[in-house]
Amino acid sequence: MTTTTTRAQSRHWSRHASNYDELFLDPFEPGVENPIVPAIGAVPDPGSKLAIDLGCGTGPLLPMLLGRFREVVAIDFAPAMVDAARQRLGPDADRVQFHVRPMDQLDDFTDRVDVAVAINSIVMPDVRDVDRTLSAIRRALRPGGVFFGVVPAIDAIQYQTMLLLDRALEQGNAPAEADRLAQQQAEHHLYDFGFGRFAFRGLRQKFWQSFELDYRLRKAGFGSVRLDQVLYPWDANLPLGEHFRGQPRSWDWAFEARP
Ligand SMILES: C[S@@+](CC[C@H](N)C(=O)[O-])C[C@H]1O[C@@H](n2cnc3c(N)ncnc32)[C@H](O)[C@@H]1O
Repeated sequence: MTTTTTRAQSRHWSRHASNYDELFLDPFEPGVENPIVPAIGAVPDPGSKLAIDLGCGTGPLLPMLLGRFREVVAIDFAPAMVDAARQRLGPDADRVQFHVRPMDQLDDFTDRVDVAVAINSIVMPDVRDVDRTLSAIRRALRPGGVFFGVVPAIDAIQYQTMLLLDRALEQGNAPAEADRLAQQQAEHHLYDFGFGRFAFRGLRQKFWQSFELDYRLRKAGFGSVRLDQVLYPWDANLPLGEHFRGQPRSWDWAFEARP
């Protein structure tokens, strides 16, 4: 039953609020090429608009939203994440309307939101929750509104695996041993590649292929969907990252969707 899953996941996310920065790739870190940042910056007439950060986490996007938009709302179902976001903002926290709740509960925002943003938060392990959430976001948007997001890419893990496998083979390992090394280095035990799922210390997250992103956004009623990539530098945040600096960078999927 999805309510139970939602409650359990909100507890797990709360538990990870204090060590969040050590555990997750940060799409706002220097060196990361994130097309969502300039896209938000290019939204016309921000001083008259309402922006909502869905799954705000510890709030890395909120200072930018506060600096631009007339009204800023932040939603997260994990109370400890909202506490961390308030702390990050200090006195400016009073200028954000925080809501601790699942982000499919948006009925009070129907037709009110100009800019919705979800950075690595459309990750519900049950795709029925994903579909319900995307539909709720679409209903919340005003005519002319826009939904920006980033989701973790499952094909990027396969890309990293390919590079790790080649490296192990070039080092003289037999194919079976090279497979074993690549699987271990890319932490395959945490992933279900068939369904695009990831499980780590109680957290269960959806990981995405670009075709599924396009499919589910359109299924939720978005008529215009543009996909792009967030590109990460080859550093210690990626498995043996420093060895692949000459290769194209790894990614998450970014999107801009309009009703
Ligand atoms: C990977 S973090 C990303 C946080 C933030 N957007 C960032 O970029 O740093 C995912 C966040 O989404 C929240 N989240 C996940 N599923 C949610 C849901 N169904 N409703 C509300 N928040 C959710 C989690 O509590 C967590 O804070």
